[in-house]
Amino acid sequence: MDRTVNDILNQDNFSKSDLITLLNCEGDDRTLLFKKSSEIKEKYIGKKVWFRGLIEFSNICGKDCLYCGIRKGNKNLERYSLDDDEILAAAKFAYIHSYGSIALQSGELESSFVSGRIENLLRRIREMSDGELGVTLSVGEQEPEVYKRWFDAGAHRYLLRVESTNPALYGKIHPDDSKHSFSRRLECLKSLQYIGYQTGTGVMIGLPFQTMEDLAGDLLFMKNFDIDMCGMGPYIEHADTPLIHHSQTLMPLKQRFDLTLKMIAIVRIMMKDINIVAATALQAIDPIGREKAVKIGANILMPNITPGKYRDSYKLYDNKPCTDDSAEDCQSCLEARVSLADAEVIYGEWGDSKHYSERRLRLK
Ligand code: 5AD
Ligand code: FES
Repeated sequence: MDRTVNDILNQDNFSKSDLITLLNCEGDDRTLLFKKSSEIKEKYIGKKVWFRGLIEFSNICGKDCLYCGIRKGNKNLERYSLDDDEILAAAKFAYIHSYGSIALQSGELESSFVSGRIENLLRRIREMSDGELGVTLSVGEQEPEVYKRWFDAGAHRYLLRVESTNPALYGKIHPDDSKHSFSRRLECLKSLQYIGYQTGTGVMIGLPFQTMEDLAGDLLFMKNFDIDMCGMGPYIEHADTPLIHHSQTLMPLKQRFDLTLKMIAIVRIMMKDINIVAATALQAIDPIGREKAVKIGANILMPNITPGKYRDSYKLYDNKPCTDDSAEDCQSCLEARVSLADAEVIYGEWGDSKHYSERRLRLK
């Protein structure tokens, strides 16, 4: 006889078929899943949320992922790149407002100019904040030597979503060329972890061609890879991308949203002490989407502190929320929202994943 959701939730390890059962659960079983994940969050993390001030410093991208609004091939988009002083000013805003950390994110470019510039910026941010501001980087695939230079210059977390861990599905949502290779994505994740970054990854949920088995495989990958941070969000179509032609095959947005909440809840149950981001894309579907994610397991929010005039141009997907707000608006709005989710924003702390410190101790 198949195990019930209650039986499954009382285990410590999950098989692929257990995970598929959890992803498909409805009604009382779904309530049970979310109850379990919020209890685990409360026990291991507390009712807490940490901010990462998000600076989307450039939408210039050398890649052509078939789902992404800022892909190189999209010509319906004004490209921008903040200058160093604008980036420093945004970092200073985060520092002055006691955000523990910032996240620097951009389109993907590999060149000695870009790597040198980022290295220099990291040093200036460290100097400006006396080393107090935590820095997450999310600027894609790079050579190990570049990752190492950035680590030495002050970045200590890196977010590189694997997007899907099924190589066949990865192949369907990326161009078939050496610039978009699944094996390189894995190599990059391994070198980040080896260098000593708190390493984060995640996938998009509700992609065309994606099955529940794929998602269960993604969950097992994240557990086996021993990630420190997880950032996952629903796939949201963008009109100016090739994947738009598969829109009729997608599950409805509400279902993609619900499945993302289930993925977050299951990750929290499988990896009790990692950091989990409540992705902005959740809010593109449900006005209180991120708060729902905080309730059932997420503990990281990324208020957008990119200068307002550029926000409209960093559209990875359609209906991106908060593109008209200022950084101050985002902060007070999020604070009110977090307290509605019965949680509290913790200021002035890095909010490192406990998982990372314990993983490092195990390695010693
Ligand atoms: N819908 C949702 N998320 C997207 N991303 C890119 N395009 C989309 C989309 N259409 C996500 C990818 C990438 C991150 C920066 O944004 O997962 O890693
Ligand atoms: Fe690859 Fe944007 S072009 S994620």
